[in-house]
Amino acid sequence: MNSIYDIDSLQTRDAKAVIHGLTDLSLHAKRGASVIQSGKGVWVRDIEGREYLEAMSGLWCIALGYGNERLANVAHKQMLELAYYPLTNHKSHPPVIALAEKLLSMAPAPMSRIWFASTGSEANDCAARLSWYFWNAVGQPEKKKFISHKLAYHGNTIAAASLSGVSYAHNKFNLPLPGFMHVTTPHFTRNGMEGETEEAFSDRLIADIERLIHEEGAHTIAAFFVEPVMAAGGIVVPPARYYEQLQLLLKKHDILLVCDEVVTAFGRTGEMFGSTTMKLQPDLLICAKAISSAYIPISALMIGPRVYEAIERQSGELGMFGLTMTYSGHPVASAVALETLKIYEELNIVEHVRQVGPSLLNGLKQLQGHPLVKEIRGIGLLAGAELLPKYGPECARIAESEGLIVRAIGDTIAFCPPLIISEAEVQELLLRFRKTLDRLNSFELDS
Ligand SMILES: Cc1ncc(COP(=O)(O)O)c(C=O)c1O
Repeated sequence: MNSIYDIDSLQTRDAKAVIHGLTDLSLHAKRGASVIQSGKGVWVRDIEGREYLEAMSGLWCIALGYGNERLANVAHKQMLELAYYPLTNHKSHPPVIALAEKLLSMAPAPMSRIWFASTGSEANDCAARLSWYFWNAVGQPEKKKFISHKLAYHGNTIAAASLSGVSYAHNKFNLPLPGFMHVTTPHFTRNGMEGETEEAFSDRLIADIERLIHEEGAHTIAAFFVEPVMAAGGIVVPPARYYEQLQLLLKKHDILLVCDEVVTAFGRTGEMFGSTTMKLQPDLLICAKAISSAYIPISALMIGPRVYEAIERQSGELGMFGLTMTYSGHPVASAVALETLKIYEELNIVEHVRQVGPSLLNGLKQLQGHPLVKEIRGIGLLAGAELLPKYGPECARIAESEGLIVRAIGDTIAFCPPLIISEAEVQELLLRFRKTLDRLNSFELDS
């Protein structure tokens, strides 16, 4: 077998799976890893020739599906023309300029500049550092703390993992760093109290956040990070009222709003940006994943006018702006991202998501009466089927044997198919999931 799983030092397939999949340790340990070799559209094939419908877009990212020749050709051409150039020392290059301009023209809120990195984690790190820089620049150096949600996922660098509200990113890693605080997940069905309405739930969460702000002192809080729709936290669409009130609260206490759109940007929620869907007006916005349809790593941090103007005013004092990374705005990645964004527009991807998204969500909702299904939720082409406790991992395993790749987030089965999925493929996905649930129903769980 010709694959990295044969490397002797890793001993076994399971050992490699452990390194790759910390969140799904027990599941991986039981079954080892599948080795995926090729893909076309929404389909992937493993080394034994089995075909799967990739209902997770890999890791929420391969939005245009596999085997896109235009993206491969653009990368090839750019590699030959200018394979690399740094953005330091007063230099730039056409692909990154064109990409920055394109992103600025698409932004869901007024934005002044774009900063590039390679991953969502790095871009979130840059957003955290830039928030500190901003508050220093405007003479409020005490504003250093961050608030984000429990169960939010913002990445795995030190700051991004600190922003993430998940124990697996913290335990035994000495995280979160001091000053990173996590508030209740705005998930009504999970965290609402007995007899509480959704409005009262939002009001309670906002009151709790305001209490926290008072306790800590608004003058110490730099920014609030949100995912417009929480993905890895189990597909959580916060109540509209929650975000409306949160933004008023942040304005009142002069706290920056940072939208982590690593999953939601570029059509996923049925608008080009999740901020538009959820009526958010961020000061900073992060996108990654679908920006290049995952064909090559690139992420972007959009910087709003308030933050940018303060930075610019200070630029003379500091000299070099210390956020540079070797691959920021890499020409090949920029060219691929630009082509990706053009393809979204040509395909009218937002309209497509508005058409097939409801088929996915309504199809899943028809399973609401299934004895193992607790809740179906989602928006656009992002959906979650929450099962009864302990059924999640086994469900993902059975789905795979039915030729369907999904992700178990605890007991929520996540669906985030490539945005180009057709209506017929959505129906195929639903059929395979229905079969999976029926098999799961007769499955004896190890207690
Ligand atoms: C919302 C969100 N933010 C940030 C990240 C981190 O991005 P990356 O894995 O590219 O560092 C992820 C990854 O899944 C994510 O879902």
